[in-house]
Amino acid sequence: MFLVPLLASYLLLVQCQSIQPPAIPLTVRSPYFQSYLSHTSTTSGTNIWPSFWTTNHTLGWSGLLRVDGSLYEWLGSAVEQVGLTINNNATAKPVTLQSYQITPTRSVLTLQAGSMNINITFLSPIEPSDLTLQSFPFTYIYFEASSTDGNSHSLQVYEDFSGEWTSSQTTNVVHWNTTTSSSIIYHEAQRSPYQSMTETNDMAEDATLYHVATSASGLTYQTGEDTVVRSRFLNNGSLANSQDTTFREIGDDWPVFAFCNDFGTISSTSSPLVWGVGLVRNGDITYATTSGNQTRHPYFLSRFADVPTAMAYFMNDATNALERAKTLDNQIVSDASAISSGYADLVSLASRQVMGGLEITVGTDSNGRLNASDILFFMKDVGNSQRTNPVEAMYASFPAILYFTSGKPRMSKYDKLCHILTDFT
Ligand SMILES: *[C@@H]1O[C@H](CO)[C@@H](O)[C@H](O)[C@H]1NC(C)=O
Ligand SMILES: *[C@@H]1O[C@H](CO)[C@@H](O)[C@H](O)[C@H]1NC(C)=O
Ligand SMILES: *[C@@H]1O[C@H](CO)[C@@H](O)[C@H](O)[C@H]1NC(C)=O
Ligand SMILES: *[C@@H]1O[C@H](CO)[C@@H](O)[C@H](O)[C@H]1NC(C)=O
Ligand SMILES: *[C@@H]1O[C@H](CO)[C@@H](O)[C@H](O)[C@H]1NC(C)=O
Ligand SMILES: *[C@@H]1O[C@H](CO)[C@@H](O)[C@H](O)[C@H]1NC(C)=O
Ligand SMILES: *[C@@H]1O[C@H](CO)[C@@H](O)[C@H](O)[C@H]1NC(C)=O
Repeated sequence: MFLVPLLASYLLLVQCQSIQPPAIPLTVRSPYFQSYLSHTSTTSGTNIWPSFWTTNHTLGWSGLLRVDGSLYEWLGSAVEQVGLTINNNATAKPVTLQSYQITPTRSVLTLQAGSMNINITFLSPIEPSDLTLQSFPFTYIYFEASSTDGNSHSLQVYEDFSGEWTSSQTTNVVHWNTTTSSSIIYHEAQRSPYQSMTETNDMAEDATLYHVATSASGLTYQTGEDTVVRSRFLNNGSLANSQDTTFREIGDDWPVFAFCNDFGTISSTSSPLVWGVGLVRNGDITYATTSGNQTRHPYFLSRFADVPTAMAYFMNDATNALERAKTLDNQIVSDASAISSGYADLVSLASRQVMGGLEITVGTDSNGRLNASDILFFMKDVGNSQRTNPVEAMYASFPAILYFTSGKPRMSKYDKLCHILTDFT
């Protein structure tokens, strides 16, 4: 966990009144699914690439926007760094980051793009009463827009992820594909050949990246070379519903996995547009016992048949998940504010880091079937040593875990976690 090293710098910042975090958390859901947006000064915007925490590894995640045909970039640095072809020679501009808010489960960016006010919420859920949902390593992205001049505007929004999420080296080969159904459309990508239980520079080499959207009219998708897919969006405000099937190295014509939503001409979004992104490892732990090694699996697979079934549930649950998150955030912030506002800010940054440091696993029975009663939690030191279950990191996270097990948002099933942690310490 990087909770401990960060405490010192955050405490200094508390004394400066408002906490200016060194990075805005975007996805913090498992030891390997951790992405942040550097925020080194009050003037920095969102037109930089998100990165993996420890190694400054770029995680390709491009967000683009068209308002009345004018081009804006809401996340990443594709416009600045990658040659895009824009037919009418228009220039794309970064949006203005007006403010941001960090709650225990959410980072909310408020942006201005022309006459549109945009809110983007990155929700890494903490699910105190549901181990299945807690163990599902996915983050929601909610997109809302509202006109600031009283008029309606033509609006299209775009998001892609690159193969950089699947390996620390861009010379490794990535495979991907897209699956459409009446409920969801998703892209998946994985390093090839499969690298079971391998990490390099702290990053998982054996994870599958998922990028998912809810099927709807106005939704289009595409996979392919970054400049081709992004230029297509910028020129047309739509994607081709086509797949690039020439698998190659991550950095060889940079394949990206994209969605676009065309809202038509609106004055505001009636409800948030939702995307999901996740990074799944299965098996996720090799557990050495006196009777040999056990391969453990993510807990959520004991309740859902497979990842697509879980993703369909996750997307369908997006509205409720956001409401649960707001309720939990209010509870945590209210409890922490009883100490001080600085402490509330600190807890807001630390909560999802504690929960995101955990792998919640199930074992298998003698027939190889997942055994939902055989639950073990593991914690990784995401920040410094990469060790599993380091005593000092578990100790540092104990206040948060005790809060979630015994506080008002009680997680009865987490009694097992306390039990396990006590056994280790
Ligand atoms: C991270 O990497 C980028 C691109 O390689 C570089 O421009 C930047 O200075 C690096 N930042 C840090 C903190 O090392
Ligand atoms: C775009 O710029 C190129 C090079 O300057 C020029 O040849 C072309 O006519 C321009 N296209 C439009 C639509 O203005
Ligand atoms: C963004 O959030 C702020 C603060 O909650 C709210 O006042 C504003 O109306 C929101 N804008 C949109 C476009 O949803
Ligand atoms: C793509 O699809 C096939 C078959 O539907 C599946 O087995 C495979 O794991 C998928 N994912 C990747 C990253 O190739
Ligand atoms: C835009 O879409 C049209 C048809 O939908 C297609 O012919 C054209 O090639 C597209 N433009 C780009 C740049 O992809
Ligand atoms: C168990 O796993 C460890 C770590 O991967 C490995 O070093 C060891 O050889 C394995 N033992 C057996 C019996 O497979
Ligand atoms: C499932 O796990 C529980 C708890 O470890 C154990 O008591 C039970 O025997 C296991 N069931 C099977 C079928 O292996």
